[in-house]
Amino acid sequence: MKISFAKPHLPAEGALIVGVLEGKTLTPTARTLNELTGGGLERAMTAGRFLGKKDQTLVVLAPAGAPLARVVLVGLGKAESVDAQAAQSFGGTGLAAVLTSGDAACAIACDDFDGLKLPAAEFAANAAFGARLRSYRFDKYFTKEKKEDKPSVRKLAVLTDAGGAKAAFAPLDAVADGVFLTRTVVSEPANVIHPESLADECRKLTALGIEVEVLGEKQMKKLGMGALLGVGQGSDRESQLVVMRWTGAGNPDAAPLALVGKGVCFDSGGISIKPAAGMEDMKWDMGGAGAVIGTLAALAGRKAKANVVGIVGLVENMPSGTAQRPGDVVRSMSGQTIEVINTDAEGRLVLCDALWYAKERFKPSAMIDLATLTGAIVIALGTEYAGLFASNDRLAERIAAAGKAVDEPVWRLPLGEAYDKQLKSDIADMKNVGGREGGSITAAQFLKRFVADVPWAHIDIAGTAWSKKDTATIPKGASAFGVRLLDRLIAEHYEDKA
Ligand code: BES
Ligand code: MN
Ligand code: ZN
Repeated sequence: MKISFAKPHLPAEGALIVGVLEGKTLTPTARTLNELTGGGLERAMTAGRFLGKKDQTLVVLAPAGAPLARVVLVGLGKAESVDAQAAQSFGGTGLAAVLTSGDAACAIACDDFDGLKLPAAEFAANAAFGARLRSYRFDKYFTKEKKEDKPSVRKLAVLTDAGGAKAAFAPLDAVADGVFLTRTVVSEPANVIHPESLADECRKLTALGIEVEVLGEKQMKKLGMGALLGVGQGSDRESQLVVMRWTGAGNPDAAPLALVGKGVCFDSGGISIKPAAGMEDMKWDMGGAGAVIGTLAALAGRKAKANVVGIVGLVENMPSGTAQRPGDVVRSMSGQTIEVINTDAEGRLVLCDALWYAKERFKPSAMIDLATLTGAIVIALGTEYAGLFASNDRLAERIAAAGKAVDEPVWRLPLGEAYDKQLKSDIADMKNVGGREGGSITAAQFLKRFVADVPWAHIDIAGTAWSKKDTATIPKGASAFGVRLLDRLIAEHYEDKA
């Protein structure tokens, strides 16, 4: 879908999306249209019980007196509550109502309302961002999709008077590129995206100015990454560790922020094999790595003035004659030994070596890892909030604020000595599981043993990486949770200020 910006006008064809404030306040464009149709929009709103409540939609077909195929009225809610998120919802909800309508051309009226606190340029840019986010589809494997089920909208014209709208959209467009990359690699099945092919996807980021290095098993063995390698040893695919560096700060030597992602391209559970029901979901057990990859793409795409290094541990957790067994003891790169009680608690084994490597090699100012780490976080928080754990309060507060601002909310859970004790092993420095209780916390406690004194946060996205339903800006499927949050966090706290 091609997005362009133009001055407000009544389009001569296709679909027009217009926002309506609660109380049925129309924009200038909608008022013109209402007059042209002899009060048709107002009659339609009454007949359709349309009040302009947030995300309420009403499609008016072939309005008499106007050349348009359809007008989509989208409720914006109350004027004072229209923020960037609401503008994105407006764009996404409107786009969803026309995407497969048959219309190729679509315009979205972003006239300046009276009473909006959000500047008009921000409103228009965010409406375009929301529409673009919602336009995503992962449909490459449909060979028999009917024409009427396919998206018809080819171009979206954003109608606005605000001069800065296009410029305000440019960085958001780069973030959408990152989100789309994440959604695609997370959606791909595990026979297509496995450690080596996902590393290849990372290599493609060099086109954006990102330095990419891929370590194979031989190199990781040399580094002593026995924990990560143990997880991948049952797979026919070679494990990979990918380092992606974006050096955008004025001082290229300034300590980077490190983003570390769990990239389990398929998690069968290994010898501690998972039940069959739902196992297909474990193709997206690389959602943390996917978010890190997409974030790097977004940062490079908008030329962020920050130094950020993304490190993803890519493995496949499979049962086989060479697979790791319950009871095996592995030695991590840190030197600490781990008794593997359950081969399905593999994410922490991958992350512990990736975190240690990040710390040793890059001396980062902070480290944030993202991982679809535990089923327990889904029990605790459901699919609305991701779990946040941190060794540093300031970092935790910043992450929580960024998540709130972009509608990728996180909820902080505790860490503590008593939880850490649950990892005590009879024969090694630690075991890889605590008890059943507080499973997300003991998993985080495990990671904490590999970050030393670097300010660190862990975001457990097992409940949020995949969405079972459409929302205004996220079609069901891979959500790319984390990309917008990290992009915002970096924009606010890690970039050189002008
Ligand atoms: N990848 C899973 C966690 C998961 C569950 C992600 C559901 C997404 C949706 C992880 O590797 C895992 O299997 N965790 C175990 C840990 C247990 C063995 C201590 C779990 O949560 O059951
Ligand atoms: Mn597992
Ligand atoms: Zn897993």
